[in-house]
Amino acid sequence: MLHDRVHDQPWWKSAVVYQIYPRSFQDSDGDGVGDLEGIRRRLDHLAWLGVDAVWLSPFFRSPMADFGYDVADHCDVDPLFGTLADFDNLVARAHDLGIRVLIDWVPNHTSDRHPWFVESRSSRSSSRRDWYVWRDGRPDRPPNNWQAAFSDGPTWSWDEPTGQWYLHLFLREQPDLNWANPKVVEAMQRVLRFWLDRGVDGFRADAVHAIGKDPALPDAPEKWTGMPWSALNDHQSTHDILRGLRRLIDSYPGDRVMVGEVFLLSTAAVARYYGRDDELHLAFNFPPLFAPWEAGAWRHRIDRVVEELDPRGAWPTWVLSNHDNPRHRTRYGSEDRARAAAVLLLTLRGTPFIYMGEELGLENAEIPAEGRLDPGGRDGSRAPMPWDGSPDHGWPPGDGRRRAAPWLPWPPQAGVRNVAALQRDPASILNLYRRLLAARRRSPALSIGSWSPLASPPDVLAYERAAGDDRRLVIINFGDRDAPVPAPGGPWRADAGIVPGPGAVVLSDAPC
Ligand code: GLC
Repeated sequence: MLHDRVHDQPWWKSAVVYQIYPRSFQDSDGDGVGDLEGIRRRLDHLAWLGVDAVWLSPFFRSPMADFGYDVADHCDVDPLFGTLADFDNLVARAHDLGIRVLIDWVPNHTSDRHPWFVESRSSRSSSRRDWYVWRDGRPDRPPNNWQAAFSDGPTWSWDEPTGQWYLHLFLREQPDLNWANPKVVEAMQRVLRFWLDRGVDGFRADAVHAIGKDPALPDAPEKWTGMPWSALNDHQSTHDILRGLRRLIDSYPGDRVMVGEVFLLSTAAVARYYGRDDELHLAFNFPPLFAPWEAGAWRHRIDRVVEELDPRGAWPTWVLSNHDNPRHRTRYGSEDRARAAAVLLLTLRGTPFIYMGEELGLENAEIPAEGRLDPGGRDGSRAPMPWDGSPDHGWPPGDGRRRAAPWLPWPPQAGVRNVAALQRDPASILNLYRRLLAARRRSPALSIGSWSPLASPPDVLAYERAAGDDRRLVIINFGDRDAPVPAPGGPWRADAGIVPGPGAVVLSDAPC
């Protein structure tokens, strides 16, 4: 059952969201690439795990220069992933299981094969010319010094036939839309309506901080030339656009949500994207994702969130891994740390995002340079999900003729580190995730309660979550040595006098 309000709050405040990278979750038709029908068939795993919502990375029609983040038709499913009917079936099944569905919406750019861009580049007098960002200049000198993501080149490509440059913060196959043009705003709002009318519960808005541009497109100071993750893309006009989008989304029933990818690496900057509760409902805050595994670093990151978000009434998000970064199990260096990190992720105040496979403690796949497919080199975290210990790990077998092997190699230890094997082991990291999700669901303190830090030894982070009579004490030991449990103001359930290093405990003051 889908309830809009949980603990009298919109559902997304107490929710745990699970990110699915569709190419790599589950293939159903034997082409070696995951698809929507494959996702539908595996929703039972997510219901068993206890997540509240899924976010699907792009499955729209695309030439796949950026594996779907180059959209050529926002309102259709790429044949690689299935059909709109498959999507409808997936949503229906998810909703039956009480799981909401968020989809990726890519507003900053389209594919260069999108009909809008094809028309825009057809001539300078095209009616869609100003749907994208074109500038005059000399063919040997780009209009400014910005550097595109995933390449060493400029964010500009020269269009020989029409003699102008076009802007692309990412690949040259991803021209930036011109959101200063009201027709672009209308067209993209129609896209949101299309999916809202189809029953999606919300969106993850890709690179949304970058949609409004300073019309002067000034040179970047030297230290910022690593576009597009820079403060240069933090332009005021984006906030006006977001207010319009928020009105549209809030006009639908059911507490639909938009979580924005605001890749600014400053929590103060991220906080502004919530507006006065009239812009994004939620925004990704990536500084913690880049924090090292150290109690002090995490305490600092958490303090920034408390200081910047709380005064605005903005609800935080937490994420340790996604399809753009090496998996945190690999970054942190051990399964013990990954387990402690799971406790951290799922007990901080805010909405946590789990990246598919982190519940298995998956490490990044090692992919030799010649096997890498992604222009940004991000393949390692996108390796396919192993469902069981058979040679094909629950994917259709690749027989080299009708059926293809998965598009990327398996992650390390897939023979033992797979869903079926870890489900059977009560002590596995998978069952730890499941227990934590169940504990959150039962506890108002853990899901929507307050957060207060407690004094603790240097390698330890201790905090209390509280809501009414429900109080929980969370102790995370980041260090490699055992640490005593700092448990003031009991009576805490005393089943642990020591937190193993690295490790974590969650104590309750409820009688048990
Ligand atoms: C976001 C996506 C990333 C993509 C980029 C361009 O950062 O997460 O995967 O390459 O936007 O769309």
